[in-house]
Amino acid sequence: MPDVKWPIAIISDVHANLEALTAVIDDIRSQNIGTILNLGDTVGYGPDPEACIDLVDASCSARLCGNHDYAVLFDAEGFNLVARKSITFHRRVLRPDPENPDQDPEAPRRWEWLGGLEPMYEGIGFEAMHGSPRQPITEYVLPSDPETDPAKLADIFSAMSHPVAFVGHTHFPGILEEGNDTFLMASSLNPEYRFDPSKRVIVNVGSVGQPRDRNPKSCYAVYDGKNVIYRRVAYDVEKTVSKILANPEIHPASGLRLREGR
Ligand SMILES: [Fe+2]
Repeated sequence: MPDVKWPIAIISDVHANLEALTAVIDDIRSQNIGTILNLGDTVGYGPDPEACIDLVDASCSARLCGNHDYAVLFDAEGFNLVARKSITFHRRVLRPDPENPDQDPEAPRRWEWLGGLEPMYEGIGFEAMHGSPRQPITEYVLPSDPETDPAKLADIFSAMSHPVAFVGHTHFPGILEEGNDTFLMASSLNPEYRFDPSKRVIVNVGSVGQPRDRNPKSCYAVYDGKNVIYRRVAYDVEKTVSKILANPEIHPASGLRLREGR
């Protein structure tokens, strides 16, 4: 990350929601933030995989691979019906098909972009990935881990190469500190979190396009090397929902849940 200018914005889990991504990029630009890292799952669930890939490609300096990106490229084994339906749709429009004269001519470029996504990103004093420092594409670091699986969490902290790790994947924004049994929900911060250099910390930046913490606004994080602030951004949820309900290749649940952020 040679030419970093603090602060930076960290986004994740866009999930083909163009209205949400556009609103978030506008919010980031309004703060004169030039560097945006994207932690993956640009595709999956939503109605606009092509436009979201293009906007992320044009706006973000780090482009990481999420489990949905991986599933569109390779296979959707282990995904539930709702997720699998969109993955099949996204693969159909994104994978180059020389037999299909109606396919967007930009498909080969987007497919190559998807195939070039990285599992991890190393910044100055921090690392970033979609899932966890131990399994960067697929593993969930859950808010309940300190209570239900402390050994897993200890192993994840020991896998970190830097004091701070940024992740996405759960769509649930908040912070886990090494040695603290409590998940610090983003909504409980007041309004910023200041890092203690003596502790390892995992920061979940939440989701741009499929928030799941009962707040329908898009979520992302701004980081200046010492503090993190969560931003919530309203977008035209009903426009995205109506696009999803009008598309028979997407399960309606991928849209209806956006109204409540669940
Ligand atoms: Fe996701």
